[in-house]
Amino acid sequence: ITIRRATVNDIICMQNANLHNLPENYMLKYYMYHILSWPEASFVAINTDCSNEISNIEDKDEESLEIEDVENSKMVKLDPTYVGPGEKLVGYVLTKMNDDPDQQNEPPNGHITSLSVMRTYRRMGIAEKLMRQALFALREVYKAEYVSLHVRESNRAALHLYKDTLEFEVLSVEKSYYQDGEDAYSMKKVLDLDE
Ligand code: ACO
Repeated sequence: ITIRRATVNDIICMQNANLHNLPENYMLKYYMYHILSWPEASFVAINTDCSNEISNIEDKDEESLEIEDVENSKMVKLDPTYVGPGEKLVGYVLTKMNDDPDQQNEPPNGHITSLSVMRTYRRMGIAEKLMRQALFALREVYKAEYVSLHVRESNRAALHLYKDTLEFEVLSVEKSYYQDGEDAYSMKKVLDLDE
């Protein structure tokens, strides 16, 4: 597994992974906005050792795209997280700097828009690595003094990662933050510039 910076070429796979893993989804132009505005702040995890790049599908469901394999004149299912020959996106973190005009008096600060790892690749430390890379870039490149995020109250895995592993603090509970009415923890981590 390789962690590298996300580029505009990755955004369709990032969106597909997001649709697969989370109910909070975004339009492609919002991914584009992140990558073009803060090109060094978002990261992807790639499995570079996928033996059969075309029919290697994790879930054979309706999300898989069917394409024509011209050479062998048959239809094959394309993994929605296929990024290139032998390569598949298995996780991403999409981040940005806070550019809310109402918060111009705040010091520069970053925001974690979305993080997810494909199910079969979980509990291997991938999310932690993605987050550490993103936090480092937000601090070093974009001078973020802190980062914030929202997480569902019921999301045990993500809460463990943020609270215990990455030492975010809970700022507040935002009632009915999500569309289905669930509350969110609003979390924050101060980024130490000398670390
Ligand atoms: N239950 C308890 N602890 C867990 C779980 C779990 N299911 N999953 C991971 N952890 C812990 C790990 O043990 C590890 O702890 P440690 O540092 O004490 O060893 C820590 O969390 C980090 O684990 P990783 O292996 O780096 O996490 P992983 O790659 O499995 O990804 C993630 C975690 C992103 C939450 C994954 O489960 C996922 O994609 N879930 C669905 C999408 C999601 O919920 N995303 C977060 C939404 S919030 C937002 O996007 C801002």
